[in-house]
Amino acid sequence: MNAQILVLPGDGIGPEVTAAAIAVLERIASKAAHAFTFREGLIGGVALAADLDPLPSETLSRARGASAILLGAVGDPAFDQRPPGQRPESALLQLRSALGLHANLRPARMWPGLESAGPLKPEVLAGTDVMVVRELTGGLYYGEPRGLSADGQSAVNTLRYSVPEIARVAHWAFRLARGRRRRVVSVDKANVLEVSRLWRQTVTTIAAEYPDVTLTHEYVDAAAMKLALTPASFDVLLTENMFGDILSDEAGALCGSLGLLPSASLGEGPGLFEPVHGSAPSIAGQNLANPIGAILSAAMLLEHGLGLREEAAHVERAVEAVLKTSARTADLASAGQPITGTREFGRLVVDRL
Ligand code: IPM
Ligand code: MN
Repeated sequence: MNAQILVLPGDGIGPEVTAAAIAVLERIASKAAHAFTFREGLIGGVALAADLDPLPSETLSRARGASAILLGAVGDPAFDQRPPGQRPESALLQLRSALGLHANLRPARMWPGLESAGPLKPEVLAGTDVMVVRELTGGLYYGEPRGLSADGQSAVNTLRYSVPEIARVAHWAFRLARGRRRRVVSVDKANVLEVSRLWRQTVTTIAAEYPDVTLTHEYVDAAAMKLALTPASFDVLLTENMFGDILSDEAGALCGSLGLLPSASLGEGPGLFEPVHGSAPSIAGQNLANPIGAILSAAMLLEHGLGLREEAAHVERAVEAVLKTSARTADLASAGQPITGTREFGRLVVDRL
């Protein structure tokens, strides 16, 4: 297979973790005789620093023409004083929306060897394997009107969802559930918000098309609590943009580290694959970042972006095998345990492949 992969390393630890992910993709390509070509683009703070827009038009047109996109992270404290639309993060929001990537898949699972890496008791974490399906191009992130009042004394954001927006992401959740344990928990705040009532009603309607999948509903506060108390009870967790942003960080941390979590953003345009973590400026450039989220994002790119399911499984097994050794990046190491650097961990995964 031929594939053009656009790489957007971005800010902070982005370049380090994407380098590890590219090395993995190159190894897969050479083993399976695929021809992957990699092209880079600017996004986020590095684009702003070059006097460009956070999402330069050149980057967007390269993205539209790519087979799939691999992104590192965006975010730079140098631009913290800027309003939302002029910050590095806005590039990601524009890219998701411009490519129509409405479904964001964020799998979080317990990894063998990492039972004690997170805050939960190993017996509570045992068997945890949750797929968060986050709506990605609607809700509070995009709703109009939005903005700060002229006198700076009030501000508004709008939470709005339409039936088609809810329905299309719900279909993703039910389809994914069919390949898993056939359970969907839809998360909302239907006891307070009209939008959530519409969400619940629409998801319930769509569920009728999937009689083999069990649907339940949870309020977001209860879902956050249950994730911490009984994480293994979740299979697919379907929710709107903001709730999904929050709950996926929680799910990642509970499984040992946010650095483990990959994501796939899918919809109309080429898929966008990125670790869930941010740019982590405090550890950038020090070979301390965990590349697993990026490497597993490369695996999702293989599976969901290029249809190479078997190759994706190879990558996951290689990560699993390396985790079964005592190799631990800084975020996963317990006190006194030696730390494996970003590059070295990436190399171990490539060697396994
Ligand atoms: C994420 C990030 C982004 C989001 C930020 C960087 C805009 O936190 O991908 O989860 O909120 O969606
Ligand atoms: Mn987030």
